[in-house]
Amino acid sequence: MPQGILIKHLGKHVGEEVAIQGWLYNKRSSGKIQFLIVRDGTGLVQCVLVKGEQPELFEMAKGITQESAITVKGMVREEPRSPGGYEMSVTGLEIISIAQEYPITHKEHGVDFLMDRRHLWIRTPRQNAVLRIRAEIEQAARDFFHQNDFTLVDSPIITPAACEGTTTLFELDYHGEKAYLTQSGQLYNEASAMAVGRMYCFGPTFRAEKSKTRRHLMEFWMIEAEAAFFDHEDNMKLQEELVYFIVKRVLERRRKDLEFLGRDISKLEAVKLPFPRLSYTEAVELLKSKGEQFEWGDDFGAPHETIISQNFDSPVFIHRYPTAIKAFYMKPDPADPRVVLGADLIAPEGYGEIIGGGQRIDDLQLLEQRIEEHKLPREAFEWYLDLRRYGSVPHSGFGLGLERTVAWICKLDHVRETIPFPRMLYRVYP
Ligand code: 4AD
Repeated sequence: MPQGILIKHLGKHVGEEVAIQGWLYNKRSSGKIQFLIVRDGTGLVQCVLVKGEQPELFEMAKGITQESAITVKGMVREEPRSPGGYEMSVTGLEIISIAQEYPITHKEHGVDFLMDRRHLWIRTPRQNAVLRIRAEIEQAARDFFHQNDFTLVDSPIITPAACEGTTTLFELDYHGEKAYLTQSGQLYNEASAMAVGRMYCFGPTFRAEKSKTRRHLMEFWMIEAEAAFFDHEDNMKLQEELVYFIVKRVLERRRKDLEFLGRDISKLEAVKLPFPRLSYTEAVELLKSKGEQFEWGDDFGAPHETIISQNFDSPVFIHRYPTAIKAFYMKPDPADPRVVLGADLIAPEGYGEIIGGGQRIDDLQLLEQRIEEHKLPREAFEWYLDLRRYGSVPHSGFGLGLERTVAWICKLDHVRETIPFPRMLYRVYP
């Protein structure tokens, strides 16, 4: 049989005989009629076999088990009751391989059971929809940066120093020397921004987080941007435009997947520019007005972020955090050096921080002082200090956590379903 067309294109072939290739997702039979629900990763289609019309094919279909790989030939017609809206009357059937008894049935399974079989779980239509939305978000971010003159400059995965604190480093033996898996491409992004002006990178980042929460992964993907001559305000504007672009794109191109997931689409449609901005100090006041016990200087926990986000339909920036709770590279606000020119972007509906970013220290002496205060090994940062020695300029950047963004857009309870093979505190299998 010829190579098939994709199920998502069936609508263009109504009234024609076509072939599709995929896997048996489910089967129903009434004795005289069999319905094979076939999936190919782009959609589902119901294939109908009538015993009286195709006795041989009908017999053959009986032996096809869940997840067997098949080629089906048939006439396409519209059928609103069929998943995907089309149906095929089978005229040909070829078995590529018969699957053994499949562990993931159409009953409910526990999360641990499914996580142990993640390599199979990703085949289910729900997981498929999430993977497609994730891919759309990645593509949207790339398109956004490309359209806005940001050059893609890849940052390294193996690094000699910490970017985001020394407590979450994954250490490597690099031919007898200590090295670490990257926590963020940022320091390299700053170097790249001085080379190309505006840059972005997109890759996996690693944090040996000791926390087992629904927002933390050990390996997650970050979309990071860095721009020379951007101040803190320019930086927030860039971030809100990126996030808005992503939301619009997903609404435009993956609406069916969102509907399939049961996402309340009006919540995404309510996202509007510009995003609200609260200073850290204003956010503390807001929390206190809601009866929360909170001291100026403390960091927000997930419940605080949720309370803050409940006041807004769009993601909200919290800017100018206390210097003491932020990374060594953040530029102090000249108007009040107790706080930094940095911001976190908090997603609506309790999804927490999706972006961290800010303006960087561009002064050599101050940066040297911070490296010392944070007890970071000076030698490993000499190259980074060079950026302040040779043509230092104001510059800013940020990192958007892909998985938390996918969790918010898809409205998933846990980041484990946002990435094909999650790496979590006690899970590195499969
Ligand atoms: O706020 P973070 O730590 O910022 C940075 O790493 C900066 N150096 C980025 C930059 O300015 N270039 O992390 C950025 C985002 C967070 O807002 C969050 O969305 C995500 O990365 N993130 C995680 N996502 C999943 N699991 C984890 N363990 C995460 N840690 C951070």
